[in-house]
Amino acid sequence: MTDPDIKKGLAGVHADTTAISKVNPETNSLLYRGYPVQELAATQPFEAVAYLLWHGELPTADQLAELQAVERANRSLPDDIRAFIDAMPTSAHPMDEARTVVSLLGSFETAGIANVLDAAGTPAENLDRSIRLFAILPAIVAYGQRRRRGQEIVEPREDLGYAANFLWMTFGEEPDEAVVDAFNRSMILYAEHSFNASTFTARVIASTLSDLYSSVVGAIGALKGPLHGGANEAVMHIFDEIGSADAVVAWLDDALAAKRKIMGFGHRVYKRGDSRVPTMKAALDTLVAHYDRPDVAELYETLESEFVSRKGIYPNLDYPSGPAYSLMGFDTLTFTPLFIAARITGWTAHIMEQQASNALIRPLAAYSGSNERHIEGYVPDAAEVEALERPEEAAG
Ligand SMILES: CC(C)(COP(=O)(O)OP(=O)(O)OC[C@H]1O[C@@H](n2cnc3c(N)ncnc32)[C@H](O)[C@@H]1OP(=O)(O)O)[C@@H](O)C(=O)NCCC(=O)NCCS
Repeated sequence: MTDPDIKKGLAGVHADTTAISKVNPETNSLLYRGYPVQELAATQPFEAVAYLLWHGELPTADQLAELQAVERANRSLPDDIRAFIDAMPTSAHPMDEARTVVSLLGSFETAGIANVLDAAGTPAENLDRSIRLFAILPAIVAYGQRRRRGQEIVEPREDLGYAANFLWMTFGEEPDEAVVDAFNRSMILYAEHSFNASTFTARVIASTLSDLYSSVVGAIGALKGPLHGGANEAVMHIFDEIGSADAVVAWLDDALAAKRKIMGFGHRVYKRGDSRVPTMKAALDTLVAHYDRPDVAELYETLESEFVSRKGIYPNLDYPSGPAYSLMGFDTLTFTPLFIAARITGWTAHIMEQQASNALIRPLAAYSGSNERHIEGYVPDAAEVEALERPEEAAG
């Protein structure tokens, strides 16, 4: 019998308050610090949205210029970090690569902090660390894709904004404005989403007063799973498997008969459609026109309408972003690392919010194992007998 107090998967549980974002499934809306995400995506550079998530307000022109200057100054991969990356096999999954590099950066950045009591860092130190991670992650992701393709590293360009420079470092070509705009929008849409699994993981780790890098490493591990961030990669595998729009119906018949989950559809919170999809779908449409690939739109729309009419389950953000990233030229394996580069802003805002008003996150579990039993012949000593007589004090 299920205990009504148990909320499996913490579904429906409010674990804390947050002032960073609000997901409202009833009105199908997502607000970052009060602003609808689609308005931010249409009007702001990603750097301004990062500032908003960290500080609670959009930056003034001077504040934005200041953040952009720090971001541009911290874009390059230091040689020692690059040497470590080169020591990793090119066959390593890029999520494992990114997770390892963030951990490595942490060991360099927090070197000298010997006392675990100081690990959590001050708010100012954590903001600096957040900005530096935000600045360097594009280099890690871009170099990762180039390394797997056997290409040389491309150094960042200080004259380009975040999104344009990210594309430049990945492809070594100055990107078209339409592509920069679609990419910038995708970064904003992926930046933050309340207590999703990876953000919650980051908050759990932050709540122990561990350091920011440890929280981010844990969050990357959570993001890798196909029920979370790994879905955008999985969507592209499905597109490759189906091939073209005319193969959708037969493919879906087989997939549903085999009880497969169709990646890119469904959401724990949104049950009537993901608020971010229309904006990302519009960006995908721009890319379809830019690259003249109507076949991609046809496959996208056919699978969507077939699946929605059969199951009543709607696409999530990973559904349009997968093919959009593919059209831009990113390898399928690079999609989830792009999600890291965007979500680092939300994760770090949550880590700082958690530590500003901390309570150790430690839920209870209802035990469902065997009844108490004993090792034959074992005789407890006097101290143990005494502790058993004071069970509340003995419990750890
Ligand atoms: C995101 C997700 C984990 C949310 O799951 P959830 O809230 O725990 O809901 P469940 O997985 O329990 O799904 C409820 C029902 O819908 C079905 N369902 C949900 N998403 C589905 C999908 N993408 N394909 C097929 N069936 C799906 C489940 O099989 C389940 O059916 P059942 O009641 O007959 O067993 C789930 O929709 C999913 O696995 N989607 C695919 C992965 C994905 O795109 N993740 C990115 C999320 S942003």
